[in-house]
Amino acid sequence: MRNLADNAVAEQTGASTRAMITVEGVHKGFNVRATGGDDGGGGYMTVLQDVSFDVKEGELVSLLGASGCGKTTLLRMAAGLIKPDQGSISIKGTRLQGPRKDLCMVFQNFSLLPWRPVLSNVAFPLELDGMGKAEREDVARHYIEIVGLQGFERHFPHELSGGMQQRVGIARALTRKPLVLLMDEPFGALDAQTRETLQEDFIKIWAQLKTTVVFVTHSIDEALMLSDRIIVFSSRPGRIKRTIAPPFAALRGQEDVRVKPEFGSYAQEIRDLLRVERTP
Ligand SMILES: Nc1ncnc2c1ncn2[C@@H]1O[C@H](COP(=O)(O)OP(=O)(O)O)[C@@H](O)[C@H]1O
Ligand SMILES: [Mg+2]
Repeated sequence: MRNLADNAVAEQTGASTRAMITVEGVHKGFNVRATGGDDGGGGYMTVLQDVSFDVKEGELVSLLGASGCGKTTLLRMAAGLIKPDQGSISIKGTRLQGPRKDLCMVFQNFSLLPWRPVLSNVAFPLELDGMGKAEREDVARHYIEIVGLQGFERHFPHELSGGMQQRVGIARALTRKPLVLLMDEPFGALDAQTRETLQEDFIKIWAQLKTTVVFVTHSIDEALMLSDRIIVFSSRPGRIKRTIAPPFAALRGQEDVRVKPEFGSYAQEIRDLLRVERTP
């Protein structure tokens, strides 16, 4: 069953059937202080429970769930920044032991260096890698062009709109030619109009590069528009409720899939999935 479904997605989207990321039986919790609030009296709080899935090479998979269900925690584990309490995460079959240069993050708050212009913000990871100035600026210019920011190389972050700042964030994450791009609600801080433009432009960028992407969002429409597959999480502790392969992937970048009637039914299905747990 599983293989059939996987092959169908691969056929539809051109993604490989080989796993890039394998998440197996991951549990994660934190020790929290007593707050007297909803979180109870402190102690150990389970955030993610028995999470297993994989992401194929070249696939764009969204992790969708309510705020607090553990999406950022899961993404940080996939980046090797924190470790699961139980279970494992592997990249191409090799167990992840810590951060790797080929796993790059894009953050919701852009996380740019405010004192640096666009060019050296984008080149920053390569500077950390010890690449020479001329070479790293060449690479940076290439990705600045891909994200549509040519002409803004000398601008500082505060001189750019939010959408432009996030283009810088995306260009910076791409400079190392990552195996996996880990995106944590990258368009969440943008107004609706800018968000839509950036979603559409991101699809075009992604179509050129075909990087494997794990995309965290709490927007149903965004997940439906962008993803090969959507992994829907329950609220805390985050568990996988269902994995959905929406049929819009093949149409990405060609037409506005949001106006299609099936889009509405998929959105409703996901909304119902997320709503079920709110009723007592
Ligand atoms: N380092 C940490 N220490 C304690 N609690 C944490 C830590 N990181 C996350 N949490 C808690 O784990 C839960 C899930 O957080 P997070 O992964 O950020 O969720 P999401 O990204 O889905 O909104 C939240 O209740 C959050 O407060
Ligand atoms: Mg988060």
